[in-house]
Amino acid sequence: SNQIKNAKLVLLGDVGTGKSSLVLRFVKGQFVEFQQSTIGAAFFSQVVSVNDESVKFEIWDTAGQERYHSLAPMYYRGAAAAVVVYDITNSATFTRAKKWVQELQAQGSSNTIIALAGNKADLLEARQVTTEVRFLGGALSISCRYLHAADASEKVRNDDEMLQLQEAQTYAQDNGLYLMETSAKTAINVNDIFYEIAKRLTQV
Ligand code: GTP
Ligand code: MG
Repeated sequence: SNQIKNAKLVLLGDVGTGKSSLVLRFVKGQFVEFQQSTIGAAFFSQVVSVNDESVKFEIWDTAGQERYHSLAPMYYRGAAAAVVVYDITNSATFTRAKKWVQELQAQGSSNTIIALAGNKADLLEARQVTTEVRFLGGALSISCRYLHAADASEKVRNDDEMLQLQEAQTYAQDNGLYLMETSAKTAINVNDIFYEIAKRLTQV
C-alpha cells in the first residue's frame, strides 16, 4: 500500500483520431479544436490512484502520420499498456487500429494491456440529436448533420461511415481487448479508460 507503480503507456492510432487530445484532456483537463498534428512523439505523465495504490503513467503520445511508423516500436516496447485510438466517424481509422493491435500482438510484450478507444463519441451524440430516420423499402436509413471540428463546415455523414459500436465490441471481445468509446471534447470516458488500465495494473 501507498506504493507508486511506474507504468509506461503508449498511444497509437491513425492521424487525427485524437490521441493528443485524449492525453491533453487526461493530463490537463483541456481540449482544443485545433490541436496540432504530433511530430515524432510527445511525453506526459499523470498519476492515478486506485484504492490505496498509485500508478504513475509515463505516457508516450505518438505521431499518427505514416512517416513516423518506424519509430513506434521504441514507444511500445516494454509498455505496460497501449491505448489504440480510432475515430468512430471514420471506419478507415478502425482498420488502422486493428493493424496496430496486430503489430502489438506480434512485436510488443505479451503482457502489455491493450485498450481500444473509439474516440469522438460526442459526434455520435450529435448524430442522434439530428438524426433523420427514413424507411426505404424496409431498410432503415439514417443520415446526420454535424459541425466537423476541423473546418467547422457542415458535413452530412451517413450510417455507413459511422463505425458501429457493435462491430468494435465484437472485435474487442474476440481479441481480449478493453474497449471504450471516448470523447476528448466532452471528457466522456477519458479518465475512465486510464483508471481501468491503472486498476488492471495494480491487480498484477
Ligand atoms: P496526430 O498527432 O496527427 O497523429 O493526431 P492525433 O491522433 O493526436 O489527433 P489530435 O488530438 O491532434 O486531434 C485531431 C483533431 O480532432 C483536432 O482538431 C481535435 O480537436 C479533434 N478531436 C480530437 N478528439 C476529439 C473528440 O473527442 N471529439 C471531437 N469532436 N473532436 C476531437
Ligand atoms: Mg497527436
